[in-house]
Amino acid sequence: MSALLPVYERDLVLVKGKGSRLFDDQGRSYLDFAAGVAVNGLGYGDRKVIAAIRKQAAALIHASNLYHTAVVSQLAERLTALAFPSRVFFCNSGTEAGEAALKFARRIGQPQGRYELVAFERAFHGRTMGSLSLTWATKYREPFEPLVPGVRFCPWNDLDALAGVLTPKRTAAVFLEPIQGEGGVRVATPEFLQGVARLCREAGALLVLDEVQCGLGRTGRMFAYEHAGVTPDILTLAKPLGAGLPLGATLVREELVSAIRSGDHGSTFGGNPVAAAASMAVLDRLTSSGFVEDVARKGEFLLRGLRKLARRHAQIAEVRGLGLMVGVEFRGEAGAVVKGLRERGILATKAGDTVLRLLPPLVVKRSEIRELLAALDALLAEGKGA
Ligand SMILES: Cc1ncc(COP(=O)(O)O)c(C=O)c1O
Repeated sequence: MSALLPVYERDLVLVKGKGSRLFDDQGRSYLDFAAGVAVNGLGYGDRKVIAAIRKQAAALIHASNLYHTAVVSQLAERLTALAFPSRVFFCNSGTEAGEAALKFARRIGQPQGRYELVAFERAFHGRTMGSLSLTWATKYREPFEPLVPGVRFCPWNDLDALAGVLTPKRTAAVFLEPIQGEGGVRVATPEFLQGVARLCREAGALLVLDEVQCGLGRTGRMFAYEHAGVTPDILTLAKPLGAGLPLGATLVREELVSAIRSGDHGSTFGGNPVAAAASMAVLDRLTSSGFVEDVARKGEFLLRGLRKLARRHAQIAEVRGLGLMVGVEFRGEAGAVVKGLRERGILATKAGDTVLRLLPPLVVKRSEIRELLAALDALLAEGKGA
């Protein structure tokens, strides 16, 4: 383990998972409210995912993007049918999906001399240089400056500020997470999203929605933008898309596709057939009758339970979220709460210093949500999170 570069702080050694539970090398079990940071939407050990991976691995693991493979083409068709008329570029991660979106936005804007990009305060779009340039936090950016030029940041949920930042002739695109994840689980109001879409239209700028964390069922709808009734020009997806295998996707609206030429972008591994086969199994499940509706109901159950706790424990400043993407803002540090939960056999992550982020597998059971609520109640009674 010590041969790994120390870019992560970690100590737990995990060996297997089943449903919403993980097991460490000491045989201890953990109820998982992190889900591999929103990757493991179907939890662990899903039989259909495993069967799809086995079958595709036996047939063809990799062929490169110099050739077609049926499963990758089928996945692209399936995604565009679920989202909006578009074409898909496949890659391996969220940050790469963002890089592709950035390049396509610049490519589409180039003939008009549009190159500026707008992102929001507290945005997180990834760690590679392009996506990092659209990411707000100084701690991620500063050590690596200078970043990609031409990016402007704007306050969240503030349409007047955005109107002031958009430049009718220069802005190529506005990048936005419908629910900011790393930035503290901050939900864009429907009015804000609708207003951003309108301002983009008026300024001739593209709307790029980053649904890497909040997309694919997490908010109780297939895509989070559906809550606001807007459609993006470009959409980025990753995390749960490959059922735990690396897979990202950038969808570009059909009318814009003629601006993109052969050779404009590429990736050796992007759109791996095994990851695509796993993804088809994920989409089968997400589109099965009542699945996302159940995510919405379980999310309401979790939010209601947390709001009840907030009324009893003064350490909680705010509970926010949509579906099973939930943040609990504490008046003090959330780190002690994350640690306390782990000691009680529950895994969760922070988003910023003061927000406990809850991202269980979408298949989490109500009894497991109750288990989390009971553990949190007990911790707060001890004074954690103050
Ligand atoms: C909204 C969003 N965009 C992009 C990324 C980057 O994804 P990846 O870590 O797969 O590069 C993340 C990761 O947390 C994210 O939450």
